Amino acid sequence: MEKQIPLLLCLFLFIFSIASSFHETEARKHSNKPAPITRLVSRSLYDSIFIHKDNNACPAKGFYPYEAFVEATRCFPKFATVGAPTTRRREVAAFLAQISHETTGGWATAPDGPYAWGLCFKEEVSPGSIYCDATNTDWPCVPGKSYKGRGPIQLSWNYNYGQAGRALGFDGLGNPESVANNSVLAFKTALWFWMTEQLPKPSCHDVMVNRYRPTKADLAANRTVGFGLTTNIINGGLECGIPGDGRVSDRVGYFQRYAQLFNVNTGPYLDCENQRPFA
Ligand SMILES: *[C@@H]1O[C@H](CO)[C@@H](O)[C@H](O)[C@H]1NC(C)=O
Ligand SMILES: *[C@@H]1O[C@H](CO)[C@@H](O)[C@H](O)[C@H]1NC(C)=O
Repeated sequence: MEKQIPLLLCLFLFIFSIASSFHETEARKHSNKPAPITRLVSRSLYDSIFIHKDNNACPAKGFYPYEAFVEATRCFPKFATVGAPTTRRREVAAFLAQISHETTGGWATAPDGPYAWGLCFKEEVSPGSIYCDATNTDWPCVPGKSYKGRGPIQLSWNYNYGQAGRALGFDGLGNPESVANNSVLAFKTALWFWMTEQLPKPSCHDVMVNRYRPTKADLAANRTVGFGLTTNIINGGLECGIPGDGRVSDRVGYFQRYAQLFNVNTGPYLDCENQRPFA
């Protein structure tokens, strides 16, 4: 049921944005009301997190402005608004860390360090495939379309594009490119993935606000609540259960830097090297 909230809210905001173009006063009223996220993430904090996102070397230069992030959060009222203030700050830090790893332009000796280069890419550069799971008949691939990684979370696979499209009101299967062309939509897809449970996986949101209760199977697989479990949800099949995986430690590095910027501790279970991926 909770999943319906973003859907309805997004459709409402979409209709409102059309309607408000005819009603300037209403539009101004709406845009003047600050989104709750602005209390946790100010523009200056955002800019000090993503120091190099508009660097000339970054293909996403100009694509991830503060306003687009803030606007997208309006569709997901539970994001970073559940639990104690520290829980909220930790959830934002975790979300921003995961999208940073997904779009990183950093390297070990990069200016300002490897974790100052989040949001550098908007789409996968040399995809190994078109990410079409043809066995998934609920979300059939459209011929000629690629479901490669796009946007802050690098949304991939036909079934993710299809479901995100349905929830957010765009044609994910027929027009996946829009995720790399529309900044607000791009952030919405990342938040949709973060907020939405896809069984047997919990949502990253539920993990970070400690609302997730592991099943017996989760306990047997060491899928303990912590930042590492969000990595398992995002890309566990490729990254978890592997000692010292570099991708996992890059995610952790981003999280540690951001947790400091948000003045919150990271909590335990940062990696997923002892976890088995979800089936
Ligand atoms: C949308 O993005 C794709 C790939 O990112 C690009 O080829 C295309 O020109 C873009 N279309 C528009 C209308 O910006
Ligand atoms: C769970 O973690 C422990 C180490 O803490 C490890 O010895 C064990 O193999 C792990 N179990 C699974 C199923 O990965």
